[in-house]
Amino acid sequence: MATLTWKGKQPVDDQVLSSLAARLHIVETFPRQPTESIAPSAQFPANGWYNRLICGDKSNVLLALLPEFARAIDLIYIDPPFMTGRDFTSGSQLAYSDKWKNDLDVYLQWLYETFSLLHLLLAEHGSLYVHLDWRATHYAKIMLDEIFGVSSNAEGVGFKSEIIWHYQTGGRSYKTYARKHDTILLYTKSARYCFHGERIGERRGSQKRNHMRKRINSDGHITWTIRSAGRLYTYDEDTVMTPSDVWSDISHLHQKDPERNGYATQKPSALLERIILASSEEGDLVLDCFCGSGVTPVVAERLGRRWIASDQSSLAMQVTQKRLLAQEQCGPFILQRI
Ligand SMILES: C[S@@+](CC[C@H](N)C(=O)[O-])C[C@H]1O[C@@H](n2cnc3c(N)ncnc32)[C@H](O)[C@@H]1O
Repeated sequence: MATLTWKGKQPVDDQVLSSLAARLHIVETFPRQPTESIAPSAQFPANGWYNRLICGDKSNVLLALLPEFARAIDLIYIDPPFMTGRDFTSGSQLAYSDKWKNDLDVYLQWLYETFSLLHLLLAEHGSLYVHLDWRATHYAKIMLDEIFGVSSNAEGVGFKSEIIWHYQTGGRSYKTYARKHDTILLYTKSARYCFHGERIGERRGSQKRNHMRKRINSDGHITWTIRSAGRLYTYDEDTVMTPSDVWSDISHLHQKDPERNGYATQKPSALLERIILASSEEGDLVLDCFCGSGVTPVVAERLGRRWIASDQSSLAMQVTQKRLLAQEQCGPFILQRI
């Protein structure tokens, strides 16, 4: 199998893992919200589970989670720095730096360690979504193939989808084609993974969208037919189509979007809603170790999933905490630090 090499490539080995594991400390405990309308006895979880918002570098946080959560996370979404060579600010405050001293080798080793730790945390039936762009997707794919393994026709372990999130915002260069998409890679640890295309797909409907033939029944109902390899396939207008891997219907948050909270690189809730609905069940555990503005925990909370979210930026912690507490309802969670 082809693998990627870079200067200083170093696997994450078990001995290093156990010697480095840091401990998490609880800074604050938040009861179920809104506290005014909930009896004090119901403000804390009967089953002892608290969602977790953790402030810390992903290496420390992921290592600290391993003893309790190895093979226990059902769904991971990450939107790490893309190696843009920029600092991201919110107002005058630095949100995070994405400069890497312009050293691709350092960035690749950092990504490789991240993927390796996430693979250890992922449940056997779990899914990992990695959100990147043209700068690093191609490297990430080869690394993820190495870590997750490859299978024929992408039906076993490893690669499942390369989702193109196509948007219209941003400028246009005169020198090359306008860059108008991010890439979200989906990898699974086994062939036994959760996927509910029917929850996020579009109704087939009555409008022509390809070369299928339209038939209108005597009762006015529409079906679409196509003949392939001697067989006739018929689809009802009311059936839900499995969504494609090109997503053009979710726009970037524009400057005045009410969802915007000022955090640079904030992603739209609709994106996370689609991912969480498709790849997890209610009560499942969702992890994001680069949570930024908190989009993953906020959407996971709203959809009844358990969550662990972390980020090294204190601004990200403030924004996420505020956003969670502003939700109409929010389950109990703890704020932790290394
Ligand atoms: C692209 S942003 C994530 C944005 C997020 N998905 C959202 O919608 O708001 C990347 C995040 O990674 C965080 N980050 C960068 N390096 C990190 C590290 N070593 N450990 C933890 N977080 C880190 C940054 O603080 C930033 O919030």
